[in-house]
Amino acid sequence: MQHGPLRNAYLDALGIDRWVRRDGPAETAIEALAETPAVIEAAPPAKPTAEAVPVPARVREPLGPITDWGVLRERVASCTACDLCKTRTQTVFGVGNTLADWLIIGEAPGGEEDRQGEPFVGRAGQLLNAMLLAIGLPRETVFIANILKCRPPGNRDPKPEEVSNCLPFLSAQIALLKPKIILAVGRIAAQNLLATDAPLARLRGKLHHFGEANTPLVITYHPAYLLRTPADKRKAWDDLKFARATYQRLVTN
Ligand code: URA
Repeated sequence: MQHGPLRNAYLDALGIDRWVRRDGPAETAIEALAETPAVIEAAPPAKPTAEAVPVPARVREPLGPITDWGVLRERVASCTACDLCKTRTQTVFGVGNTLADWLIIGEAPGGEEDRQGEPFVGRAGQLLNAMLLAIGLPRETVFIANILKCRPPGNRDPKPEEVSNCLPFLSAQIALLKPKIILAVGRIAAQNLLATDAPLARLRGKLHHFGEANTPLVITYHPAYLLRTPADKRKAWDDLKFARATYQRLVTN
C-alpha cells in the first residue's frame, strides 16, 4: 500500500478528506476511517451477503475457446457483428497487465478512447486512475476493459443487441486473464454483467460473482458519474475499500 504525499494527492483528487490527529501526524484516510465509528456505520457491511449470479442470458453465442491474447485481439479488431463497426475509428480492446489479479470493467469507449484505441483515457479515466491508486493499484498493474469494444455514436447507452454481440469478447478476456476480482464501474457495466435491471444503488455494497469461474465482482459508480456528482465520491470510496478488503481476504485465505 502506498503512503505519503502521492497517495494523499490521489485521495484529494477523489475528494476524500484526509484526517489530522490532534496529537500526532496526518493520518491516511483509510486508517482514520477505521477509527471513526460514524464512518464505519456508513461503510458496506463487514460480512457482505454473497450472491451467486448465473452467466448473463444475453450472451448470443460463445466465441469458442480462444487461448491466445493476440488471436482474441485480432477477432475484436475485425468484428463487424453490429453497426458500431461503421462509426468507430477503431476498436478498443482493453489495456493493462495480462497477469493482473484485478479486472476493471467500464461501459464503452467514449470519443477520446475511440481516437486513441485505449479505454479510460479521458477525464473519467483520470479519475479512475486516482480511484485505483487510492487503493494501492497503479493503472498499469490492473487490466481495464469495457462491455462494448466500439464507441456508440454520441456516447449513447449500448443497445441490448450490441451488448449481446460484444459480451463474448469480454468473457474470452476473462477466461484468459483469470482475474481474482472484478470491479465494475457504473450502471451499464453492472447491469449487463449481472443480467439485471436493478438500480446501481441496490447492486453496490455487496459481493456478487460473475461467470463460469464465479469471479468475485464488486460494483461502484462510474467515474464520469462521480465527476458530475461529487457528493457520491464518499460512497465510491466505501466501495473501493470494500473491494480491496475482499481481495485481501481472497489472497490471504
Ligand atoms: N467510459 C467507459 O465506460 N469506458 C471508457 O473506456 C471510457 C469512458
